[in-house]
Amino acid sequence: MIGRLNHVAIAVRDAAAASALYRDALGAKVSAPMALPEHGVRVVFVELPNTKIELIEPLGPLSPITKFLSKNPGGTIHHLCFEVDDIDAAREQLKGAGTRILGGGSPKIGAHGKPVLFLNPKDCAGILIELEQL
Ligand code: CO
Repeated sequence: MIGRLNHVAIAVRDAAAASALYRDALGAKVSAPMALPEHGVRVVFVELPNTKIELIEPLGPLSPITKFLSKNPGGTIHHLCFEVDDIDAAREQLKGAGTRILGGGSPKIGAHGKPVLFLNPKDCAGILIELEQL
C-alpha cells in the first residue's frame, strides 16, 4: 500500500538554526523558513535526491509541536510520511488491520495542501506515521 518516503519531519526549537547544519555542514539544498499558521508550525524543507527532511518549529502557543518538544527538549524525529495512491482505500485497509487513525479517522488537508491521515503511534511501533495522497 505505501509508496515512497515523502518526508521525515524533525521537531526543533529553531528551524532556521537547524537548517544551517543541513546547508553548511551537510551541503543540502534548504528552503527559506515558511510559516504555516493553520498548522501551528514554521517549516524549513531540506531537499534530498530521494526524499525531504522537514524541520518543524512550533509557531504560536497552541502549536501541536510544543508539547512534543517539552518531552524531547533537544528535538527529535516527529513523524514519517509515506505516499499512498488512494487515501480512502488506505484508511479502509488500516481499519481492517485494527490500526487507529488520529483525529476521527477522516483525511484532512495537510501542510502541503494534499489529503493526509495520521496514525496512532501506539499502533505503529512508537512512530507517528503520516500518509499523504499525492
Ligand atoms: Co508531514
